[in-house]
Amino acid sequence: MVTGGAGFLGSHLCDRFIAEGFHVIAMDNLITGNLENIEHLFKLEQFEFYHHDVSKFVHVPGELDYILHFASPASPIDYLKIPIQTLKVGSLGTHNLLGLAKTKGARMLIASTSEVYGDPLVHPQSEDYWGNVNPVGPRGCYDEAKRFQEAMTMAYHMHHGLETRIVRIFNTYGPRMRLDDGRVLPAFLSQALRGEPLSIFGDGSQTRSFCYVDDLVEGIYRLLLSDYHMPVNIGNPSEITIRQFAEEICKLTGVELNIEYQPLPTDDPQKRQPDITLAKEVLGWEPKVDRAEGLQRTLEYFKQKVKVPAERMMN
Ligand SMILES: NC(=O)c1ccc[n+]([C@@H]2O[C@H](COP(=O)([O-])OP(=O)(O)OC[C@H]3O[C@@H](n4cnc5c(N)ncnc54)[C@H](O)[C@@H]3O)[C@@H](O)[C@H]2O)c1
Repeated sequence: MVTGGAGFLGSHLCDRFIAEGFHVIAMDNLITGNLENIEHLFKLEQFEFYHHDVSKFVHVPGELDYILHFASPASPIDYLKIPIQTLKVGSLGTHNLLGLAKTKGARMLIASTSEVYGDPLVHPQSEDYWGNVNPVGPRGCYDEAKRFQEAMTMAYHMHHGLETRIVRIFNTYGPRMRLDDGRVLPAFLSQALRGEPLSIFGDGSQTRSFCYVDDLVEGIYRLLLSDYHMPVNIGNPSEITIRQFAEEICKLTGVELNIEYQPLPTDDPQKRQPDITLAKEVLGWEPKVDRAEGLQRTLEYFKQKVKVPAERMMN
């Protein structure tokens, strides 16, 4: 079962598990997800969809081998609008699903995040870094929900001997991202395709490291089937400043660089780069898709979704 199965990452996980021959249940309340992401799966017998809020009691008939808990608003634009639901799905939702995993004897993997490191004081971030999070800042609802989620999952592992896995996901991109989810990559791509200036928050010197979705899914698949229960970073260490990234996007889409600077949001992390030594050692995993290739594939998807103004179509 994949919770958040109609979302960006959840839908790619459903595809992967179907391709591996699993029977897959996607559970989602569609608060930020979209059925379009999984509509191609509805005709398959090995696929089921449950429209349900996992912060409420979760029941699923029959056997379950694996639960992947990916339900949660993931983008600041979403969790700033629905902070209480965000805290609930990380806490109550996780608790409900851990209970279900215990009842079914299932192994549970949770989608944690690089946001547990907050605005990090060490660089790059390895799993033994405890983070620098402001619990009462605007991002606290997400970061602390995820930190609680990890703590609750470890407690079930230690106290009940439940089989658990924790993936700390760093910025991931690819087809099925929402154009308007406020994250820098879909924002830049859709602005460039519409011929609008690219919005940079702050001076653009902050860094991010972007991982292509297929690489992430491979890392998660390996982690789930591994015997390692401590948190593992999955991300692409290739780091870039937001300003350089804007230049890359303009080159890719063939538009002239035109930037609109805006104030930096509160508690925006200055640096982000995963240390993936552990993933290499434990899972034999490292990313394979470089940014040029991943962005090209994502651009193809965005071209179908973005309404390009008529005057740009003629150019
Ligand atoms: N995309 C990234 O770069 C990234 C990075 C770190 C962590 N993550 C984590 O991965 C997971 C998926 O992120 P995403 O980018 O696919 O986001 P997304 O918004 O596309 O998907 C989240 C899905 O969860 C569903 N959902 C939310 N609350 C729910 C609830 N209470 N009950 C049932 N369904 C609910 C939404 O409708 C949506 O379909 C999240 O847990 C997120 O925190 C993502």
